[in-house]
Amino acid sequence: MSMRRAARLLTIGVALTAAVAMMGTLSADPAQAVTSSRVSGGDRYGTSAAISRAAFPDPTSVSRVFLVAGASFADGLAAGPAAAATGGAVLMTHRAALTPTAATEIRRIAPKEIVIVGGVGVVSSEVERQARALAPTVTRVSGDDRYETSRRIVERFFPGAEPTVYLATGRDFPDALSGGALAARTGAPVLLVDGVKQSVDNSTRQALERLSADKVVAFGGTGVVSSKLLASASAATSASAARLGGSNRYETSTRIEAAVAGNGEVLMVTGLDFPDALSAIQLAAVRNAPIVLTVPYCIGGSTIPAVSSATRLTLIGGPGAVRGLVGSRPTCLPTRTATSPWVMVNKKTALRPPSYVPADLRTVGGTSERMRAEAATALERMIAAAKNEGAGRIKPGSGYRSYTTQTYLYNNAVASKGKTRAELGTARPGHSEHQTGWTMDVVACTSSYCSGIDDFGGSPQGRWTVKNAHRFGFIVRYEPGYTSITGYASEPWHLRYVGVPLATDYKKGGFHTLEEYLVYPAAPAY
Ligand code: DAL
Ligand code: ZN
Repeated sequence: MSMRRAARLLTIGVALTAAVAMMGTLSADPAQAVTSSRVSGGDRYGTSAAISRAAFPDPTSVSRVFLVAGASFADGLAAGPAAAATGGAVLMTHRAALTPTAATEIRRIAPKEIVIVGGVGVVSSEVERQARALAPTVTRVSGDDRYETSRRIVERFFPGAEPTVYLATGRDFPDALSGGALAARTGAPVLLVDGVKQSVDNSTRQALERLSADKVVAFGGTGVVSSKLLASASAATSASAARLGGSNRYETSTRIEAAVAGNGEVLMVTGLDFPDALSAIQLAAVRNAPIVLTVPYCIGGSTIPAVSSATRLTLIGGPGAVRGLVGSRPTCLPTRTATSPWVMVNKKTALRPPSYVPADLRTVGGTSERMRAEAATALERMIAAAKNEGAGRIKPGSGYRSYTTQTYLYNNAVASKGKTRAELGTARPGHSEHQTGWTMDVVACTSSYCSGIDDFGGSPQGRWTVKNAHRFGFIVRYEPGYTSITGYASEPWHLRYVGVPLATDYKKGGFHTLEEYLVYPAAPAY
């Protein structure tokens, strides 16, 4: 056994004890101070190059680059641990031609070898031809399918007598991603298996025999890698069997995270898509940091244990993959509960119940318009700030509206404009944010006169609001150009309270619809 591997195994032992000892003290309210940073590029390819730069600031330490397809996860997944075990980098490329960001990073690294992972169907011969100009040796490792490709990778880069072999499903990415990071951190191989089968096939059995592991560990629950398959894999080499899995991808990722001690850094990746996370496997290895899957905008219950003791969160990919908000570890607030400031209300998502009435309405800014207390206070602060900062007077125009009031407004709008035009500006009852008490339509006033809502957007107050509403927890909910997502024409006057952290991150992250931020489908119509 190599020194490196012995040291790593020791770390695992210590870590398991630490993880168990920690369990009793985990709280739902992350207490430890945390800093966050982001590694990302313009797209998955750029992110993979950015991750490679972050993982290998000194390119002379890297002798091999693994080129994987950006369009499918399976080959890259098996390549990550192999790259980690042999000190290589993993870069994503398009199929038809070598992606320029990958080419630039390969030039920086100047590797002795480029290993192309997968067949010409996923990484073309043209990419191979271009790669030849960038390294003295170019090889391709591929099999007839993802399972065979993973075996070939393991065959070539793991000599055998492995203490642990990990099994991941080749059908879906999430469990295998966090698992890939664990394997990479501990220098162990990952074999992809068709996890729903009841036993391993002959080729996998042979691969396991050659590796002669002491332990076979499956990633994910029994629905992902079946108990029978795991048992047959361990029986093949008289190895012990274990599983790192939970009831969903987030829980599994948390269990995997707890398996090895890190140094306080956690790589946060979206649990909704694979590409950014895939490249993060190499960073996980170099930094000894786990990959933890997260809801893109908050820390869900099963993720809390994995991040509550972290001191550094590294967000992988752009804000579209992982929102900046995740860096401050906010507990997820519900998006389908009417009382929540994060509640989603649109043409596809009705209030529950449709007759909902908020409990703590109060009047705002000396008018008879009402909002829920938290939003009312925030709006009054915003109105005061607008005045102090020279933007002028802003006045509440229309706040809380009951189901009955919205019915009246909607029917009137339909009667005067026809249904199509009415529905671009007025929600059906049970579908209006005004009914949540989190929303106010505002108008701009001089000392003697207030304009109508239609004039707000063009007013100094309207321009100030676009720039500053987030400081008070509001977003301009219906921006011009997003009717295909929100279902409404531009409404610069319609301010929706979501709380300062979300509103600020929404603004900083360049979001334009709450649907995109909270990962809801577009709602152009009912
Ligand atoms: N004007 C907005 C869309 C509403 O009626 O709620
Ligand atoms: Zn409104």
